[in-house]
Amino acid sequence: VIVRFADLLEEARRGGTVVGAFTCYDAESAAGVLRAARGRPVVMLISAQMVSGPDGDLLVAALRGLAEQARSMVCLQLDHAHDLDTVRAGCEMGLGAVMADGSHLSPDANLEFVLGARAIAAPLGVAVEAQLGRLEGLEEIAVAADSGELTNPEDARVFVRETGIDCLGVAIGNVHGIYRGRPHLDLPRLREMSAGVPVPLCLHGGSGLPADCVGAAVAAGIGKVNFNTDLRQAYLTRTAQELARAPVGAALLALHHAQMDAVAQTAAEKLAALTSLAALPR
Ligand code: 13P
Repeated sequence: VIVRFADLLEEARRGGTVVGAFTCYDAESAAGVLRAARGRPVVMLISAQMVSGPDGDLLVAALRGLAEQARSMVCLQLDHAHDLDTVRAGCEMGLGAVMADGSHLSPDANLEFVLGARAIAAPLGVAVEAQLGRLEGLEEIAVAADSGELTNPEDARVFVRETGIDCLGVAIGNVHGIYRGRPHLDLPRLREMSAGVPVPLCLHGGSGLPADCVGAAVAAGIGKVNFNTDLRQAYLTRTAQELARAPVGAALLALHHAQMDAVAQTAAEKLAALTSLAALPR
């Protein structure tokens, strides 16, 4: 069932867990995520490239249809939109939240972009997430990266107050894609932000983070963790294995079932870690 972004985060908080958010590129990955959810609230992240790409409206409608049928509470969120046209398109496609990512812009331009996104989203009841600090790495391609400029806690407090956003993505040593070396998250910085900011904080770059790192971030105040690369890698590794068999009898459905299994297994591991770790004292 599809619910509002705020209700999803609140449901997770009441259940003593945090929200897992997973990028869904097709029906197979979405079905895998929804199978893994098993009653727990999840966010289905929708790539900005999908929204603005060929037949984006049809693909998003298909993913929404899957979410409507799910037993879990689900919110669809446009991920990493870098321009207002994509934000508007995502809102018009019926997504429940948009991430207006102006973190590559100057602080003033980021503020202006996020206010523009809110002006589009808020009247439609769509929640807005923004990002302060730089997250290195790529959103759609797995490359190794070192962490970028970290989020300043005082800037975060002021930014959230001035923009009225619903969720803030933070840079505390996290990267998109593959961590070069062992990840190190700045937990004192995160604790300070969590105390000073009244909205949930989001940890992007969940793939490749050891479970104890994710757990420490959750204990220090993270409310939502985004995962993409690990799901793509599981999907593609399994596809490569199964592809050798698929041409025999053109067995397409067997290939799709294997893809769903791979995503479901990976997402279930992430959700199990979030559920058990969220029970730690804060
Ligand atoms: P990873 O690809 O590193 O898991 O990051 C996902 C993400 O943050 C999506 O917004």
